[in-house]
Amino acid sequence: MTEYHIRLYKDSDYHTVRDIFARGITEHYPVALRHTFSLPRVWILVLAVFLLALVTTGSFIVSSVAVAVIFLVLSLININIFFSYVRKSLATDMLDIRKNYLQRDGCCFWVAESEGEIVGMVAAVPFPHPGGQNQVELRRLSVPKKHRGRGIGKALCKTVIDFAQKSGYQAIVLDTSLHQMDSVHLYKRLGFQITATYYPNYYFTKFLDFVDLIFQYDLVKLQ
Ligand SMILES: CC(C)(COP(=O)(O)OP(=O)(O)OC[C@H]1O[C@@H](n2cnc3c(N)ncnc32)[C@H](O)[C@@H]1OP(=O)(O)O)[C@@H](O)C(=O)NCCC(=O)NCCS
Repeated sequence: MTEYHIRLYKDSDYHTVRDIFARGITEHYPVALRHTFSLPRVWILVLAVFLLALVTTGSFIVSSVAVAVIFLVLSLININIFFSYVRKSLATDMLDIRKNYLQRDGCCFWVAESEGEIVGMVAAVPFPHPGGQNQVELRRLSVPKKHRGRGIGKALCKTVIDFAQKSGYQAIVLDTSLHQMDSVHLYKRLGFQITATYYPNYYFTKFLDFVDLIFQYDLVKLQ
């Protein structure tokens, strides 16, 4: 297995890291769809729409079309959660990576490289905490599918942990969704703990049971 090393982001990585980030997020919508269509409340809605259409129109075809529309709308809502998050990120912090991560105090952006190819990425940015605790957010972690399972994700997280310790942060926080099972597994293995769950600010996330998780890794006792 070829070796990789972790280094600071440079401008020539720009298009590759944006692409790796976008793919790493949008790949999860099939998992989210499966979850949505496993929810009893969704099947109750589908049945109710079918029966209502049947009673009001008397047409089996119209009722089936109504059910198909429900499936389509729920699918599009799910897919849109991932794609609108990517669009927003690419148009904000990921638009000028150098300025937003390398030219600001307490921030950083790293990539993992193997034989001249980018095989992973991660970023760190100060996270405002109402209690005044000095926290850093781990974000934009992604490893292309063909390079997974080689310890790159873990090494990138450890790079952030190391950076946070050296920078004097008290804790690392991060946000991921329940559907990103590989990342949930990875963060738990590294000792991160879930401190809160919430429904992201998109339409119907509660109905779709689209749960986001906040993880925290405390550094205070290590200093
Ligand atoms: C989460 C992610 C970065 C993990 O990257 P990775 O390089 O595969 O992670 P590692 O190789 O360090 O493995 C970490 C753990 O996940 C397991 N794992 C995850 N995906 C695996 C795969 N495809 N094959 C084998 N093992 C895998 C490893 O076995 C390891 O578990 P262990 O510590 O119990 O042995 C990667 O799956 C990814 O980019 N996902 C899409 C983007 C994403 O969701 N990012 C998180 C944003 S919050």
